[in-house]
Amino acid sequence: MSVKNAMTSDFLHSAYGGESMAHMRYLAWGDIARKEGYPNVAKLFEAISYAERVHATNHFREIGGNTADATVTAGAVFGNGKTYDNLQGGINGELHEVEQMYPVYLNAAQFQNETGAQRSFHFALEAEKIHAQLFKQAQDAVKEGRDIQLKSVHICPVCGHTILDEAPDKCPVCEAKKELYVEF
Ligand SMILES: [Fe+2]
Ligand SMILES: [Fe+2]
Repeated sequence: MSVKNAMTSDFLHSAYGGESMAHMRYLAWGDIARKEGYPNVAKLFEAISYAERVHATNHFREIGGNTADATVTAGAVFGNGKTYDNLQGGINGELHEVEQMYPVYLNAAQFQNETGAQRSFHFALEAEKIHAQLFKQAQDAVKEGRDIQLKSVHICPVCGHTILDEAPDKCPVCEAKKELYVEF
C-alpha cells in the first residue's frame, strides 16, 4: 500500500528521516558509552537503535510507491557529547516524538483515513514512550557514576516495543510472539 494524501505522506517522509537519524545517532552514542565504561548503557543505545530502524523501515514501507527522489526535512539532536549529555539528548528527542510529533502525525493519518500510516505512527509512539523512560533510568545511574542495571534488552521487530531482561509472551502493542523478539 502507498500513502495517498500529501500531508500524511510528508509526515511519513519526515518521520522516516527522523528515525533514520536516531538509528545512527544511538549507534554512535553506544560506542561512546562503551568507551566511557558503561557497557549496559551501550547495549541500551544499540537495542533502541534497532527499534528506531524498525520504525524507519515501517514508515518507508508505508510511503510505498515507485522509486522517486524526495528531500526530507526532519528534526534531530546532533553532537557527540559525554554519555550523560547524550542520554539527555535521547530523552529530549524521544519526548519530542511522544509529546509533539507522533500525536500530530497520528491525528493527521486518522483524519485522512490512512490506515497503514496510522499503524506505523502508533507503533512508534508507543515505543518512544518507553525509550524516554529507559534513557532517564540510564541517566540517573550515570549521574552517580554507575552503569544501568540490566541483563538484556528485547526489541519487537514488528513495532519496536522495548523491554528489559525478558520478552513478554505477546507484544503488548502489536501482539507479535515472544520468539520473534530480538535480544541485545
Ligand atoms: Fe525511540
Ligand atoms: Fe510489537
